[in-house]
Amino acid sequence: MSSSVSSDSSDSLPLSLEGEGIAQDSKAKVDRHTGEAWGHYSVMRDECVAALDLQPGGMYLDATLGAGGHSRAILAADATVRVVGLDCDGRALAIAQERLAEYGDRFQPIRSNFSTFDPESHGFPAANFNGVLADLGVSSMQFDTPERGFSFRHEAPLDMRMDDRQELTAADIVNTWDETTLANTIYQYGEERLSRRIARTILQRRPWHSTTELAHAISGCVPGKYRHGRIHPATRTFQALRIAVNGELDVLENFLERSPQWLVPGGRIAGISFHSLEDRILKHRLKGNPLLKVITKKPLYPTEEEIRENGRSRSAKLRIAYRLEGD
Ligand SMILES: C[S@@+](CC[C@H](N)C(=O)[O-])C[C@H]1O[C@@H](n2cnc3c(N)ncnc32)[C@H](O)[C@@H]1O
Repeated sequence: MSSSVSSDSSDSLPLSLEGEGIAQDSKAKVDRHTGEAWGHYSVMRDECVAALDLQPGGMYLDATLGAGGHSRAILAADATVRVVGLDCDGRALAIAQERLAEYGDRFQPIRSNFSTFDPESHGFPAANFNGVLADLGVSSMQFDTPERGFSFRHEAPLDMRMDDRQELTAADIVNTWDETTLANTIYQYGEERLSRRIARTILQRRPWHSTTELAHAISGCVPGKYRHGRIHPATRTFQALRIAVNGELDVLENFLERSPQWLVPGGRIAGISFHSLEDRILKHRLKGNPLLKVITKKPLYPTEEEIRENGRSRSAKLRIAYRLEGD
């Protein structure tokens, strides 16, 4: 097995992250465990390793590699296990590959959307993995890189693609979608009550170029009390755009439909969600899959200490299941 990056043919989407203001990550620039800068503090790191119930010689799939924090924790916890790490973001993959180089052939990065990953086309037997982990959402690296356009804290193009091989950007959505589709998207994916008003404003003031001009206009079109609320008035719309750009909920459904078949009997699947739309899918898909038995009747949450150290973990929920014997 080589540790060079391979890729599948998936050109598509996904992601999810915290909305701005819903949970910001102002202090999480240094990993408390490794002391590494650009820390990418891995959410519920120890809980995830425990959830996977590492087996000697086991093979684990980190479906959302990011900066490789969870993969590193798995590789460090047992010197006999191997990890395959997926990410649809080529930049994340390159960083993780560098950070995990010390693990040599025990780590294999693959550029792929987790929803279209096909283990067999990469030479793995059908039911091969002892555990699968998905730490859903945008990474701190993506969110805090202004030109990726996920955040309205910085002026940047309306991009929001996790995978730059994909064509659809947030600018395409705000500049070309009709008012009803836009309003419905903002309502469903952002759970934004003022979706119609915001969609109307977006249509009236096209074309849009930057994150900050859009956020400013949204702020200006909502009633005054929203401007002084707990979160910025554009937070929910930005979440909705991000989910739409990356097809976040569809890819999660697809992944949860397919990935249980990648597990050996007894193998674990663990997922961390960051908002209610994701958590609902995770909960129902794990519970509804006849191959799986859910371990976490209620989700696990980060400790108070972790939430204090990394605000972005605040909305995390971890759900775990294992594969039953037989087909
Ligand atoms: C929250 S970060 C993961 C952080 C990682 N667990 C760590 O500890 O460093 C999520 C990562 O998953 C990737 N991602 C999200 N959805 C994906 C999908 N459907 N397919 C592949 N990668 C995805 C994102 O590009 C991002 O790099």
